Amino acid sequence: MTEVTAASSRAPAPSLVYLVNGLPSNVIPVTDRGFQYADGLFETIAVADGEPLLFDRHLERLARGCAKLGITMPARELFEAEAGRLCGGRERQVLKITLTRGSGGRGYRPDGAGPPTRVLAALPWPDYPEMHRTQGTTLRLCRTRLGSNPDLAGLKHLARLEQVLARGEWTDDAVQEGLMLDEESQVIEGTMSNVFLIRGEALVTPRLDRCGVAGVMREAVIACAERMGVRCDERPVALDELCSADGLFVTNSLIGLWPVRRFEQHSYAIPPLIPALLARLREAHACV
Ligand SMILES: Cc1ncc(COP(=O)(O)O)c(C=O)c1O
Repeated sequence: MTEVTAASSRAPAPSLVYLVNGLPSNVIPVTDRGFQYADGLFETIAVADGEPLLFDRHLERLARGCAKLGITMPARELFEAEAGRLCGGRERQVLKITLTRGSGGRGYRPDGAGPPTRVLAALPWPDYPEMHRTQGTTLRLCRTRLGSNPDLAGLKHLARLEQVLARGEWTDDAVQEGLMLDEESQVIEGTMSNVFLIRGEALVTPRLDRCGVAGVMREAVIACAERMGVRCDERPVALDELCSADGLFVTNSLIGLWPVRRFEQHSYAIPPLIPALLARLREAHACV
């Protein structure tokens, strides 16, 4: 009896899905610059047994984005307390943090805007088949290109129309992810993931200094590889190189790591390095 009471007091009320600036609500003003101009940032975080995974890395990327955009980063304690309210007692869910510059300013001019709007949302876990991890996935080449902008490269800002266009290119559920190139036909990332190639015993992942989102799982994979003594080069990657790779995988905070078995007309094996990396990521509580 005591245990049940304790567990249910930890579990959030079923209706508590959104907190806007710390208060239960799912409404923001139409004047908010996130709505007006995509003037803000977001993080999508996996939650396991009430714990947001890679929380430090997510908050660090958010802080980097805030520094770049000149948005005041709220105190870490606020995120911790609100994440606890939304996620406590939940076995698996997604925690989404959205942070905008708030309302105000004049047209695009940002000075005078604020305070920032902070939205935390507890969203259902996407039940991707485990098969995607064990047997691999199919990747297609997207027609939509990523425009380059070194000032925004790496950030997870709200302006995601390129990804929306790219993801709209296919409806076939047999294809799990789409690969995006920049205007110079260099490989950058997936529509919702980062990409890694295996060449011999080493990893290669595209450098993200002109476009792309510097994924938190990408960072975790690079750190894991380093601990395993596996070299990982971050550098420009041409499309041809992808076709001749010994293995390919994509990463994000929710999927963890998905091996790629097919990319257009190319097939790939799943080299032992892929399950080894996945096991290390799980050990490090980087993914479920
Ligand atoms: C465009 C894009 N690139 C990369 C990623 C991977 O980011 P993370 O590992 O932080 O989830 C995402 C995640 O949603 C994304 O939308």
